[in-house]
Amino acid sequence: PLVSMKEMLEEAKQKNYGVGQFNLNNLEYAQAVLQAAEEEKSPVILGVSEGAAKYMGGFKVVVSMVKALMEEYGTTVPVAIHLDHGSSFEKCVQAIHAGFTSVMIDGSHFPLEENIALTKKVVEVAHINGVSVEAELGRIGGQEDDLVVEDAEAAYAIPAECERLVNETGVDCFAPALGSVHGPYKGEPNLGFDRMEEVFNLVNVPLVLHGGTGIPTKDIKRALSLGTSKINVNTENQIAQAKKVREVLAEQPDQYDPRKYLGPGREAIKQTVIGKMREFGSSNRA
Ligand code: G3H
Ligand code: ZN
Repeated sequence: PLVSMKEMLEEAKQKNYGVGQFNLNNLEYAQAVLQAAEEEKSPVILGVSEGAAKYMGGFKVVVSMVKALMEEYGTTVPVAIHLDHGSSFEKCVQAIHAGFTSVMIDGSHFPLEENIALTKKVVEVAHINGVSVEAELGRIGGQEDDLVVEDAEAAYAIPAECERLVNETGVDCFAPALGSVHGPYKGEPNLGFDRMEEVFNLVNVPLVLHGGTGIPTKDIKRALSLGTSKINVNTENQIAQAKKVREVLAEQPDQYDPRKYLGPGREAIKQTVIGKMREFGSSNRA
C-alpha cells in the first residue's frame, strides 16, 4: 500500500536497519524499484525531485503511474512517494495535493530561523493530510538535478541548531549534512560519525543520509547503528542503467528498439536496488 514514511522509519529506527529512498527518473525506474521491493519484501521510498517530476510530466503523472503499477503488480509492501528536496511551501503543497505521501522541505540554504518557519508551515499542512515531512540542516555538497552546492559552500549541520529545528517543527525525520555528497565522491567519503551520534541523541527522530551513492558498506553499517534509518540513492542506479545501455548499444550498433536497451537498463536498476536493500537490512521486513 501507499503510506507515509512515518511508521516505516520508526520501525527501522527501532530495529537499526535502513529504508532506501530510490529516486525515480522515468517509468523504468518505477517498475524496477517496485519490483525489487516486492521481491525483497522490503519497505521502500520512491524519491521524486522537482526536476524529475517535471521530466515525467508533473506530480500527478508520477502518482498515477506509481498507483497503476502497484495495482498491476499487486504490491503488498509499504511504499512512500516522497518529494525529494522540495524547494518551497508551494511545491510541497502541490505534491501533497497530487497524492504524494511524504515531502522533504529543503530550507537548508536559508538562515536557521527561516528554515524553521518554512519547515513548520509545511509540517502543519502535511500532517493534516497524513503526509510525513523531512527537513535538512547544513549543506550537502555536490549536484542533484538543478541543486548544485560547491565544495566551499558544503557545511556540516550544527547539533544545537538541529535540536531546535526538529523540536520546533515536529518533522518526522531529519537530514543533517555531515559530509555526504550528491553524485560520485571525489575519493573516500568522510562522514562525521561523532556528530551523527550527537545529533541523533539530541533529536531522537530517524536520521536521513543523502548522497548514498559510493558510501562503503562499513560506513553504511556505522550510520545505521547511529540512528540513520533512511538512505537516499540516485546516482548509483543511473550509473548502472547507463552502463548497461552503453554495453547493449555497443554490442548492437544497429539496435533502435528502446525496449531492447531500456529493458536491460531496467534490469540493471532492479539488481542495484536489490543489492542496496540487502545492504541496508530492509529485505524481509515487510
Ligand atoms: O536526494 C537524493 C540523494 O541524496 C541521492 O544522492 O545521487 O549521490 O545517490 P546520490
Ligand atoms: Zn539528497
